[in-house]
Amino acid sequence: MTADFDTIVNLAKKRGFVFQSSEIYGGLRSAYDYGPLGTAMLRNVKDQWWRSMVQLRDDMVGIDSAIIQAPQVWKASGHLASFSDPLVECTNCNNRFRLDKLDNVDQCPSCGKRDTFTEPREFHLMFKTNMGPVESDDNVVYLRPETAQGIFINFENVRRTSRMRLPFGIAQIGKSFRNEITPGQFVFRTREFEQMEMEFFCRPEEADTWFEYWLEERHRWYLDLGMTPDNLRLRPHESDELAHYAAACSDVEFDFPWGWDELEGIANRTDFDLRQHAEHSGEDLTYFEEGDERFYPYVIEPAAGATRTTFAFLLDAYREEEVEGETRTVLKLDHRLAPIKAAVLPLSKKPELTEVTQRVASELRQTYDIEVDITQSIGRRYRRQDEIGTPFCITVDFDSLDDHQVTVRDRDTMAQDRIAMDKVSAYLADRFAG
Ligand code: GAP
Repeated sequence: MTADFDTIVNLAKKRGFVFQSSEIYGGLRSAYDYGPLGTAMLRNVKDQWWRSMVQLRDDMVGIDSAIIQAPQVWKASGHLASFSDPLVECTNCNNRFRLDKLDNVDQCPSCGKRDTFTEPREFHLMFKTNMGPVESDDNVVYLRPETAQGIFINFENVRRTSRMRLPFGIAQIGKSFRNEITPGQFVFRTREFEQMEMEFFCRPEEADTWFEYWLEERHRWYLDLGMTPDNLRLRPHESDELAHYAAACSDVEFDFPWGWDELEGIANRTDFDLRQHAEHSGEDLTYFEEGDERFYPYVIEPAAGATRTTFAFLLDAYREEEVEGETRTVLKLDHRLAPIKAAVLPLSKKPELTEVTQRVASELRQTYDIEVDITQSIGRRYRRQDEIGTPFCITVDFDSLDDHQVTVRDRDTMAQDRIAMDKVSAYLADRFAG
């Protein structure tokens, strides 16, 4: 069980993690803007993914492909023909639903009337637009619904230029767009979102082994970043759930406030995509090594959502604790995900303290995302920093002027250490390494 849904949504809005998009115009449904803290945290999630998937590995490279690609890409991938959801409309209240997400297909969840649904029709999920100044059928293009295809169409470019040999992976982080019928649950399902996807190319006979390997790796990634083990599970897909391209798929699921739901899908995409693009483009996308026959590599794909994962980490980290008869709200985020690593808090606004505060802050700023907060009582400032998950608060007081020391408070234990000012950076480095 994680935090209450409304509590997290309110915290996210109140503290500047996520805002409703176009709020001053009444808001655009299902679109969100990330505020200062949300932007920093989302960037941290993506950085951690990139670090573990690309930076720390010698079998991986990264790319950044265009959002708008040739329309043939979507024909070859199968998206033009089959990327749709079954939509039904209630003839009483006119609300629309995804048939496959309804608990009871005979009763409208909105108005409660029975037998009011229209026949299902397939609703296409890709956003369509035109490329160039004239709107015509000849220049229709689509916003990508997944980052994966940008990787497949660059397989040969990347293999040739980076001289990678099997098995190897190509990773990408970027925006994707889906005209979801029922967006909702805050940033869980939106029409514009960010994905973190990796396509791992391997020999067909090794695909099952690599599939198991990536299931374990990806599960471990969330745990390593502090996610509560009980809030996470791996769920293999039933055969009727599998996407048209997949031979096997398991989801990493998180215990959201409405129940278990998908964070990431790990699929064995076989050689479907490379074969399709080879056939449609006429390019040779097979793989060759000395002494071997040409063949199409198989692909294992861990596909995660950056925005959805950020939301899950927020839910997972939320705690309310009783401290000396009062309730303290704290986000127990891993320091690598916390938007602010340390806050520097002068005990008063007197100029002598401001000057020392700025000195401490400017040194720390070289290495860490920090915040200087001079308003309100020290107790309220601690509470605010706890609520946004800042691992350390550094208080500058009048004694600091003489002893050149500051007090460092730990978010989780609330223990305080008196540290020499010029040792604070090393102190934080030590704590973050441990
Ligand atoms: N290339 C495979 C693929 O795109 P997917 O399961 O459709 O697979 C992967 O998407 C991940 O992207 C999901 O597990 C989820 O985290 C994220 N995602 C998909 N649709 C989303 C949406 N409408 N809003 C937010 N995140 C979404």
